[in-house]
Formats: sequence, C-alpha cells, structure tokens
Amino acid sequence: MSETATKYFKRQPRTDTGVPRVIEAHNIHKAFDGNKILKGLSFNLHKSENLVVLGRSGMGKSVLIKCLVGLIPPDKGELCVLGQNIMALDREEDWMAIRRKVGFLFQGGALYDSMSVRENLEFPLRRQPDPMSKGEMKDAIAEVLEHVGLLEAIHKMPAELSGGMKKRIALARTLVLKPEIVLYDEPTTGLDAITSREISELILHMRETFGVSSVIITHDMPCARITANRIAILNEGRFGAEGTYDELEASGEEWVRSYFE
Ligand SMILES: Nc1ncnc2c1ncn2[C@@H]1O[C@H](COP(=O)(O)OP(=O)(O)OP(=O)(O)O)[C@@H](O)[C@H]1O
Ligand SMILES: [Mg+2]
Repeated sequence: MSETATKYFKRQPRTDTGVPRVIEAHNIHKAFDGNKILKGLSFNLHKSENLVVLGRSGMGKSVLIKCLVGLIPPDKGELCVLGQNIMALDREEDWMAIRRKVGFLFQGGALYDSMSVRENLEFPLRRQPDPMSKGEMKDAIAEVLEHVGLLEAIHKMPAELSGGMKKRIALARTLVLKPEIVLYDEPTTGLDAITSREISELILHMRETFGVSSVIITHDMPCARITANRIAILNEGRFGAEGTYDELEASGEEWVRSYFE
C-alpha cells in the first residue's frame, strides 16, 4: 500500500456513499505452493451491510475470510479492516484489538466439548484484556443466549445438544463479545430447512438491531435470500459478479444464474 493510502486509511474509512466502509480489500492475491487461489480480489463491506459470498467448493471462500482476520496472510494486496491497514499489523496486541471487533463463526463452528454452554460462552469473555466482573459476565451470557433462543441450555454440555443447537451456541459465543463485524463461514450447513431459516433470521436480526456488518459465506440459497443486502460470487480468484439477489437471479450471464436454479 502506498504511504498516502496508508495515511488515508488510518484517518478514516472512505465514505463515498455516506456509509463508512468497514472492510476494504483491494487486489488480494493468495497462492499455496504455486496454486493460485485468490487472484486480485477486491471488495468493500459497508457498515450494517450483509454481504453474501457464493462460489463453488474450493474456490477460496474460507481462505478469503481467514485473510480478513489474519489467520492466513495474503501474498499481496491492500486490506483495511475498521480503518486499520491489517497488512501492516505486526504487534500481537494490535491483532487482538482487531479480533475483538471481528467475530468469526468457523465452518463447522465447534464448541469445546468438555465445557458446558455457560463455560463455552465465558471463555472468550475471560480472555479479554479488561475482563468483566462475574455479574457482568452472567448478564452478557444470559442476553446473548436469549438472542439465539437457548437460555434454557445454559447448563448443558455440547454432547446433549442437537446440531442446530450447537450452531446457535457457537453463534452466541461469537456474538457475546459484541463484534462490529461478523464473518460467517457456512452458518447453516448440515441443518434442516427450518433451523437454517432460524439461523438466517438471527443473522438478519444482528444487522437490523445492532448495526452489525457481516460477510456470510453460504451454499444455502434461502439463507442468501434472507440475509443478503448484496451478493458477490467468487469465481477464478475474484468476485466475478455482484448485485442484489434479484439482480443476480435475473443476470444475463448463465454461469451467474446457475447459482439460483
Ligand atoms: N492452509 C492451506 N494450505 C494449503 N492449501 C490450502 C490451505 N487452505 C486452503 N487451501 C486450498 O485453497 C483452496 C480453497 O480452499 P477453501 O477452503 O477456501 O475453499 P472454499 O471455497 O471455502 O470451499 P468449500 O465451499 O468447500 O468450503 C483449496 O484448494 C484448498 O485446498
Ligand atoms: Mg469453505
């Protein structure tokens, strides 16, 4: 990134539409052993926006969101998250500060099996540099469990939960830190249609109620329809098409329409 651009990003995210950009990715490249996965990918995520990412298996969707939280360093490109140039972050505490504001629901979203639901939710809270009091923690956990509709599961162990309940608890564990951005990697995979719909509505609720901005990777088109303000399709290492659900469904390009059939 040029020095001018770095200064600019540090000052404030750009706001050409009046809505701040919480993620700005420009010309991102990533290869593994010469196998090029991301090839000049660019996109922006605006405040309170839900961006759904579609793309065939193996296209690099999970790689992309791992780049956004520093789990995989891009080989090249410019990447700003909440106004910070994350390609230039090298201090662990700077990463921790970003990771506190960016929640990540992993593909698979595993819970710690040996911990109860309450302990699973306490875990991220206890790791904060400025930990909450016991009372605050109790309130935060009750609030987030209520959001995901599972307050009654607070004392259960993960083995006692259904797949859908586990997903909802994993989601609660991501949300308990009140992130400004949430990255969802296939939040509804393996769930029945009704549970998928509930999770999708919860994702929508996070945006509408708390102004959270999200990137949602999914193969589940009903989930995309419920959650997306905008959809981008990852193809050959870049976003090959972008638009609303209705725009892309009516696209003149057959490869784009094929996702909606
Ligand atoms: N840490 C890694 N080391 C080497 N190769 C990797 C690594 N992570 C991902 N890849 C490769 O990058 C490619 C994209 O993987 P990725 O997991 O991002 O796909 P995806 O689009 O999320 O697919 P799916 O829809 O199946 O989840 C794959 O070929 C994968 O093998
Ligand atoms: Mg994936």
